[in-house]
Amino acid sequence: MNNFNWDKFFLNNYGTPKIELVEGEGVVVKDSQGNIHLDFLSGIAVNSLGHAHPVIVEAVNKQISQLSHTSNFYANKPALDLAEKLIEISGLDAKVFFCNSGAEANEAALKLTRRTGKKNLLSANGSFHGRTIGALSITGQLAKQKPFKPLLSGIKFIDINTKSAVRKIKRNTAAIFLESIQGEGGVVPCTDEFLTNIRQKTLKTKTLMIMDEVQTGMGRTGDWFGYEQSKIKPDVITLAKGLGAGLPMGALLVAGDAKDLFEPGQHGSTFGGNPVVASAALATIKFIEKENLLMNVANMGKLLGELLGQVQGVKEVRGRGLLLGVCLDNLSAEDVEAECKNLGLLINAVTEDTLRIAPAFIVNIEQVQRCAEIIEDAIKNVSKLVQQK
Ligand SMILES: Cc1ncc(COP(=O)(O)O)c(C=O)c1O
Repeated sequence: MNNFNWDKFFLNNYGTPKIELVEGEGVVVKDSQGNIHLDFLSGIAVNSLGHAHPVIVEAVNKQISQLSHTSNFYANKPALDLAEKLIEISGLDAKVFFCNSGAEANEAALKLTRRTGKKNLLSANGSFHGRTIGALSITGQLAKQKPFKPLLSGIKFIDINTKSAVRKIKRNTAAIFLESIQGEGGVVPCTDEFLTNIRQKTLKTKTLMIMDEVQTGMGRTGDWFGYEQSKIKPDVITLAKGLGAGLPMGALLVAGDAKDLFEPGQHGSTFGGNPVVASAALATIKFIEKENLLMNVANMGKLLGELLGQVQGVKEVRGRGLLLGVCLDNLSAEDVEAECKNLGLLINAVTEDTLRIAPAFIVNIEQVQRCAEIIEDAIKNVSKLVQQK
């Protein structure tokens, strides 16, 4: 039983959480009952440096004591420095728009596509791009869309990793939205061949290739952006989650000719580029660079994938770096998630049969091993219960 009034105070759009978190340090969090948990979900792939990281605490404290908000009527240095840094790590000839979430980043991208003069859009079945009406319209999950119809028109859905998807891109297609790894869809990666074929075709048809890197970006896959593995360069990238590393921030990066599509007054956000969140984001990127954390992401992800691949009851481990989907043989992922919670590990059942794991980039070997052990124990315990029924 929890001791907080969630149902009394909040709208009914979420399930009721069983745990109230009160503090954290690194990959470890404490709940209001004094229990300690290993956090291998990181606020859904957000807290890249874990909880209460000194680098972020210092950046936020310093900036908030100096200048907390400006609006976009005035420039601020953290936002300028962050935009420059994002362009540098993307290697794109790009310009940036800042907002506050993944859905907003995709809304901005959607509005940008309208400025091409073409109206037709493609997105992928199983994709997730956010909950606002626009972002939901390009989200390829009927159950999430159905209660909110009518949505935007002119959007068709393709299956990732198929040749027919490439054929559906025509000259009148304004843009195609893709995730390099579908996160909410169950940690399902696009193949390198698929992304390469899409890039080639979109260049021919002058269709914007928009990579939604909200979940896969900012180092989570072991590269700064998930699509890098496929050696392609998109026209547009959308970011959020790990960008602010625990503070709310989203971004749109637009490369090439498309970067001149917006004119003054055509889009905006009061909080976009807020100096406090921009400072946190910048400090996070610099720390990841300084400590070579992308290497740790790749190494720890590989180890975790190998350990989980050996666990009885695990059918398949998908994903890359520290975004892994553990597909279970025949147990409910929700039941295993609940048992992991009892055993002190926070992860989530992203689909009926798949657990999602996304720890902070600072995770170490012992913590990775402990995670694998707990999942193994949880699978055993849930299997026993199922057999007893
Ligand atoms: C790929 C992707 N795009 C967009 C979003 C929406 O982000 P937000 O919840 O910040 O609006 C998410 C959230 O899970 C996501 O995974």
